[in-house]
Parts: sequence; C-alpha cells; structure tokens
Amino acid sequence: MNSQSCVTIYKEWDIVAARQMGREIAKNIGFGTVDQARITTAISELARNIYLYAGKGKISFEILDSLDHKGIVIIAQDNGPGIKDLSQAMEDGFSTSGGLGAGLPGVRRLMDEFDIVSEADKGTTIKTVKWVR
Ligand SMILES: Nc1ncnc2c1ncn2[C@@H]1O[C@H](COP(=O)(O)OP(=O)(O)OP(=O)(O)O)[C@@H](O)[C@H]1O
Ligand SMILES: [Mg+2]
Repeated sequence: MNSQSCVTIYKEWDIVAARQMGREIAKNIGFGTVDQARITTAISELARNIYLYAGKGKISFEILDSLDHKGIVIIAQDNGPGIKDLSQAMEDGFSTSGGLGAGLPGVRRLMDEFDIVSEADKGTTIKTVKWVR
C-alpha cells in the first residue's frame, strides 16, 4: 500500500472508486468495521459534493503512522465555484441543491478533525482526519 493515493472525481462512478480505496486503506491501517463505515460515508459525501457542485476534483488519502498514533487523512480538493458562506454550509439542513444539507455537518461528526478552506471562483479544499483508537 502506498502512503499516498488519490482518485480523480469526474464521473459518478468515481465516487464508488474513492469509497473503495478509502475503505481498503482504512482496513489496512487497522480501523474496525464501524469506523470503516464512518470513513467511507464521509468519503461519499465529499466526493458527491465535488461531483455535484464542482464537476471535477480529487480525493486524496494519506496515512498517519507514528509510534502511538495511526490515522487516515482524507483531502477533498476542487477548483469549482467555492462556498460563499462556510458557516451556513456547515449547518444541518442548508442546501443549495434541494438536498438534505446533511453532507458536510455529517462528515464533521463522523471524523475527528475537519478543516475547510473555500474561495469564490477558486475552489474548495476539505481536510479531515480520523484516528484509530
Ligand atoms: N465542493 C463544493 N463546492 C461548492 N459548493 C459546495 C461544495 N460542497 C458543498 N457545497 C455547498 O454547501 C452546501 C451544503 O453541502 P452539504 O453536503 O452539507 O449538503 P447538500 O450537498 O446540499 O445535501 P446532502 O449532502 O445532504 O445531499 C451545498 O448545498 C452546496 O451549496
Ligand atoms: Mg452534499
């Protein structure tokens, strides 16, 4: 397994590929099945947002492995339209597409660390981490 891997998100099927790669990496790091499910759900939501709102982007994975700390980093990056109001986008129920508005707040709850940087017309980068416990 490489310590860095990435999936380009462009077609709907790429969302499935990103989930599969993430699950494989999470399993190899030592996450249990419940955490694997949390991680793949987070990947789905991030990839789906790229597909829906930016059209194209990528999901990258990094493995964190020190003596007492193991974890997975998921980075979702696109050069799409960006998010105007980040705090609004992070609210449960906020959606510009008639969706549930549960994606981003869900990812934040499922993972341990969550960082989002977004700029109008430049794109969005979300970095999120989960630690093995
Ligand atoms: N990568 C992105 N680029 C641009 N806008 C985004 C991106 N990701 C999210 N957004 C904006 O943030 C809003 C909230 O995203 P979130 O995933 O929480 O909900 P949703 O996609 O609308 O609905 P759900 O994910 O529940 O189906 C979206 O409606 C969209 O306006
Ligand atoms: Mg969404």
